[in-house]
Amino acid sequence: MVRAQARGLATIAGQSGIQFGAAVGPWLWNERDFREAVLSDCALIIPEFEWKWDRLSHHGGDCDLSPIKRYLAFADKHGLAIRGHTLVWHRSMPSGFPASADRETAIKLMTGHIRALVGCGAGRIPYWDVVNEAIEPEDGERGGLRRTPLFRQIGPDYIEIAYRTAAQADPAARLVYNDYGLGKTWGAARREAVLRMLDKMLSRGVPIHAVGLQSHLKVGDGTFDPEMLTWFGKRVEEMGLDILVTELDVAAADGGSSDAEVAGVYGEYLSAIVQLPNLKSISTWGLSDRYSWLANEPGGHGARPLLYDARMQRKPAWDAVAGALAERIPL
Ligand code: G3I
Repeated sequence: MVRAQARGLATIAGQSGIQFGAAVGPWLWNERDFREAVLSDCALIIPEFEWKWDRLSHHGGDCDLSPIKRYLAFADKHGLAIRGHTLVWHRSMPSGFPASADRETAIKLMTGHIRALVGCGAGRIPYWDVVNEAIEPEDGERGGLRRTPLFRQIGPDYIEIAYRTAAQADPAARLVYNDYGLGKTWGAARREAVLRMLDKMLSRGVPIHAVGLQSHLKVGDGTFDPEMLTWFGKRVEEMGLDILVTELDVAAADGGSSDAEVAGVYGEYLSAIVQLPNLKSISTWGLSDRYSWLANEPGGHGARPLLYDARMQRKPAWDAVAGALAERIPL
């Protein structure tokens, strides 16, 4: 039983004008202790997988929108914001999407999918992760674009088409470009490619409003450079874009890590992030170790990457996040 936190993370974050959130799954509906922690700490929830194209449709066509409506009802009831995740991602293409579809057909399927989902929540979903992980310099394509199915079938302008379609479906939504590795020491080519893509899209008037830093971290891997992260954040802000931390979690070192070591990484990373003026939200990728994608990754058994343990007891990471949030200058 989670004690209702008089000062949950949502309250602490709200004092400096940012939202704290977490990715959630269907366990939100039937696990009271998990739901209580979400309601105590979160002002924002993100469906971790239920809104993805491969979960809503099997052939790329008509989607079952009931998962969206269920989350909207919950968010309305509890006064929560939702970030829609994610409209276009190469790893969540419907299994039946026609690989032989020509450009026109692929555009029709992609835009139909975007209009259906964004239109379903128009005016009620303040953020959408429109395109996720479109950059992969190692693919060798111009601009460092990832050679995704829609890149191959539509062309590089699939990204612009996706954002324009989402903006038409809900002009009030803040449209996010979400990616990983943007604060990593090994991410220089990714950072440059993302900045170039954003600059090109903004110069063409493409409606994009924020960059999502996924922020999947690992204890002791030596790949986090606060100066690099701050440099990238400032470049994004110079473009007039908001910054969101979208999928924050901290994996243990290969040989295992203590909860204190995990908390230390949360604190170090967020102490750099909270200094960014355009920061709008910080979301962890899950709230409890009971449900983390990392548990299904190689070596992830028994993973403890999040703020609550599997028994819904707060961990040192919770305190580290609370402390970092409190470092941000109050409104
Ligand atoms: O919970 C159901 C279970 O009831 C069912 O029996 C089983 C088989 O269908 O599926 C289970 O759901 C799985 C879910 O994870 C929970 O474990 C889905 O199949 C599986 O697709 C889903 O994977 C998600 C993955 O994206 C692919 O969509 C992970 O939860 C999610 O954490 C992961 O998140 C991604 C972000 O979207 C993008 N950034 C990287 C991040 C990590 O890969």
